[in-house]
Amino acid sequence: MDNDKRFVTGLDVGTENVRAVIVSVDKDNHLAVVGYNEGKSAGMRKGVPANLAGPAGAIDKMLGEAERMGGYDVRNAYVSINGSSILSTRTEGMIAVGTVEHEINVEDLDRVEDVAVSGRIPANRDVLDVVPLEYALDGQGGIKDPLGMSGARLELRACVVSALTPNCDNLKKATAAADVHADRLVPSVVAAAKAVLTDRQRENGVAVIDMGATTTSVAVYEEGDLQYVGVVPAGSNNITNDLAIVLAIDPTLAEEIKQRFITGDFDHEKSPVIKIGREGKDERAFDRKEVELVVKARLEEIFGEIRKKLKAAKYDQRLPEGIVLVGGGAKMRDIDLFAKKSLEAAVKIGVPTGLGGVADAIEKPEFATAVGLAILAAIEGQYTPVKTKKAKKGQKTAKNGNFLTKLFSKF
Ligand SMILES: Nc1ncnc2c1ncn2[C@@H]1O[C@H](COP(=O)(O)OP(=O)(O)OP(=O)(O)O)[C@@H](O)[C@H]1O
Ligand SMILES: [Mg+2]
Repeated sequence: MDNDKRFVTGLDVGTENVRAVIVSVDKDNHLAVVGYNEGKSAGMRKGVPANLAGPAGAIDKMLGEAERMGGYDVRNAYVSINGSSILSTRTEGMIAVGTVEHEINVEDLDRVEDVAVSGRIPANRDVLDVVPLEYALDGQGGIKDPLGMSGARLELRACVVSALTPNCDNLKKATAAADVHADRLVPSVVAAAKAVLTDRQRENGVAVIDMGATTTSVAVYEEGDLQYVGVVPAGSNNITNDLAIVLAIDPTLAEEIKQRFITGDFDHEKSPVIKIGREGKDERAFDRKEVELVVKARLEEIFGEIRKKLKAAKYDQRLPEGIVLVGGGAKMRDIDLFAKKSLEAAVKIGVPTGLGGVADAIEKPEFATAVGLAILAAIEGQYTPVKTKKAKKGQKTAKNGNFLTKLFSKF
């Protein structure tokens, strides 16, 4: 093992899939993907654990394979959290710091943050993040970084992200049961944003939408900071289930129809019949209009809920950099065209790029969360004491350092 390298791990525990990305950080803070894996999830309902054994078993199995393939033994990770209990709250706090000559120090910032949070977030919620949006000194606002500045009264306006405590506790328990310590829980859409957004997008105003299997979450950034997070308890699996019910078919067939035949440009002229199976043997035909009606209705509902959330947060007409779609649901062909119409904004599919090497295999919208978690852990210096095992030949691990990319500047 290269002793100059430290390691971080991102672990995305979804309802349908679990994914891990192991990243090495060298002494110059270059990040490189050295291992990754994905597998089926279990025991999760609408983004949160419904039992402990299911997700624990799924994480253990998926990481076990990643460890054997990559030769790394993961003990700690940044872990994604999801579910409609996640929300952001705008809060304010004010403290007196002394005389006007007083220079603002780190303790003052901690204290004003405590005041802004305590009592504002219900006791049954865990605070996942406190994002300072703006400070004011002696009534003068618009200050981003007051450290070292002088003043007697310090005020803070912040965005506090929280989730129901039992959901957080159960997720930590499930990962612990798989022998992984959750160093930090990060909403999946917030983690994904770390992997797919540029500084410019974050500065000008952009939203990331993570369409998973059972949840669709949105995070808004402006002036470089997270401004809003919300989760809709429906996702791409709802489309599959609707098709299975309306067409009275097996969910596996419904999933195949969704993945192979549905595109987001519903108005475009296509053949009126969807044929699936082997001709003259088990071929089945479906009326495309009927199929599309079902899919479109569900997409309209999900994106309609997202639109309502953006509107409530006053960001519906205020996203100059548009919308970036991630998650497995973003793999539906031309879904960006549907989202563009529905949300009346420019829409792109987001992939975690710039990692090089084995990273090309994970430059997919569904890996954005796991990659973003690893990047966050690297930035926050939460290294995991990874032991190298003897790697299986080849696959899913980086063999050389050519792909090292200086990522700290990008993120
Ligand atoms: N090619 C495709 N076309 C359409 N949908 C797809 C495609 N590939 C995957 N999906 C859908 O993506 C979803 C899985 O996405 P993802 O892995 O991001 O979910 P998850 O993280 O497990 O769920 P959640 O975030 O809701 O807990 C499934 O509903 C699946 O049908
Ligand atoms: Mg997910």
